[in-house]
Amino acid sequence: MTRGRSGNGMRPAERPLDETASAPRFFVMVGGPGAGKGTQAQRLAVALDVPHVSSGDLFRAALESGSPLGSEARRFMDRGALVPDELTVRMVAQRLDDPDARRGAILDGFPRTVPQARALDRLLDRRGAGVEAALYIDVAPDELLRRLSGRWICRGPEQHVYHERSRPPLRAGICDIDGTKLRQRADDRPATIRTRLAEQLPPMYEVVDHYTDSGLLVAVPGEDTVEAVTSSLLGAIGKHGERPAPVPGMRA
Ligand code: AP5
Repeated sequence: MTRGRSGNGMRPAERPLDETASAPRFFVMVGGPGAGKGTQAQRLAVALDVPHVSSGDLFRAALESGSPLGSEARRFMDRGALVPDELTVRMVAQRLDDPDARRGAILDGFPRTVPQARALDRLLDRRGAGVEAALYIDVAPDELLRRLSGRWICRGPEQHVYHERSRPPLRAGICDIDGTKLRQRADDRPATIRTRLAEQLPPMYEVVDHYTDSGLLVAVPGEDTVEAVTSSLLGAIGKHGERPAPVPGMRA
């Protein structure tokens, strides 16, 4: 199904500045905690020229701003549980109202439950759009544990992601791209990681089944290199819609 694809045959970089000129493209990234959704979403957003919308980042921003939504979400995030659907859908709906999301979005970490997937369909339907493909990054639970426990993230606005073994920065503790210091996430403590996997994998598999049933699921093996996973995803999206542009300026 290729709802939402641009019908003008132009590549993203050649699109006119008028954001309403081409139909929006919405993709959802599905995968367990640490599967590489954020890493891949950053790269796909560049390639497809649409914003990267991460529900986890939105919650963390709400938390840092001291908003009531942030404090409510914290109660769940700190123990590795999912935030209730109603709160999550409301927050993502607000983000999709921003002007840049008229072009579409790579939704990272949302939907995480079948009710969220249904709510997303309604939200997009009101905008005359739909999910073009659900991109499932398939990674075994043991590897998820390894990835989360070695993850480091930069303090810059784009929060570039590293791994102490598989993707170390060139200078220890410093982001290669924007030079900010790297930090570890509060929920990447071993006990919280175990709860995240136990509580969040079962609903994630239900979301995979949901998109399989609706014919939108694109599953790629997620245990290859970052670059190989990006190629698989871009190749799969190419089959669903127009051929995407190459990823410029991303470090291999
Ligand atoms: P969120 O921030 O979305 O966390 P998550 O889904 O647990 O996913 P992560 O960000 O931990 O991992 P990722 O898949 O993005 O992997 P990454 O690219 O960083 O959510 C946080 C919390 O908010 C949730 O626990 C929940 O409480 C709440 N929440 C968020 N959304 C919600 C929703 N919709 N509903 C309810 N609650 C919600 O990669 C991980 C590591 O692996 C990195 O170090 C990276 O360098 C490395 N890596 C990546 N790819 C590869 C590769 N191919 N090979 C080797 N290493 C790799």
